[in-house]
Amino acid sequence: MQLIDAIKQRKTIKMFQSAVKIPREELIEMLTLSQLAPSKANLQPWRFVIVDEQDLKNKLLDKVAFNGPPCESASAVIAVLADLHYEKLLEDIIDNNIAQGCLAEQFKENTLKFLTDVHQSLNEQDIRDQVLIDTSLAAMQLMLVAKEKGYDTHAIGIFDREAVLTALEIDQDRYAPVMLLAIGRAGVPPLPSVRLPLEYTVSWNNGKGFKK
Ligand SMILES: Cc1cc2nc3c(=O)[nH]c(=O)nc-3n(C[C@H](O)[C@H](O)[C@H](O)COP(=O)(O)O)c2cc1C
Repeated sequence: MQLIDAIKQRKTIKMFQSAVKIPREELIEMLTLSQLAPSKANLQPWRFVIVDEQDLKNKLLDKVAFNGPPCESASAVIAVLADLHYEKLLEDIIDNNIAQGCLAEQFKENTLKFLTDVHQSLNEQDIRDQVLIDTSLAAMQLMLVAKEKGYDTHAIGIFDREAVLTALEIDQDRYAPVMLLAIGRAGVPPLPSVRLPLEYTVSWNNGKGFKK
């Protein structure tokens, strides 16, 4: 499938074929592709908790407002999280770069110091904004990759964050929930959705050209 077709065909799916289970190997492949997304300083703050056990998925149903049907019927529900303490991984990230030939060992200490200094210059809000932006890029990529692989998704932002994180034993001080992503094979056609004309969303050369 061409990228343009995946973009055009990705639509929010309200109900999946509950008999279709996506094999973990395929989920792993999709996640591997999704985390090729760019991130600030390549810090990769996205984290994914994959819920593919029906019992556990069922435990989420009373915590997702009106979003029960896609969660219940999905092959998996993915809690997409942003790591507010990505700095714990700085050395691992650098070591991984060295191991894969992207950074010479001799630059390790300088790079670590640079990234640590940048991190320490940020306030809590800066950090939260940064990891939410980066994680959202990976989530978008996951939705498109899923479409390309013949699957469908439903991003869910309306859910009881505290209850879902507690049910999944996720450390709330460390991980900010960005969205839940139900994934499976579509069981119903998508609802139609349209976008605003570009005159509302695009302005050329300055910020004064938006229609409203
Ligand atoms: C971050 C995010 C959170 C969303 N949360 C919900 C939700 O809680 N419930 C819902 O029905 N749709 C939710 N949606 C789906 C949007 O309503 C949908 O993407 C939009 O209407 C456009 O439709 P389309 O995805 O089919 O193009 C969410 C979408 C995004 C990107």
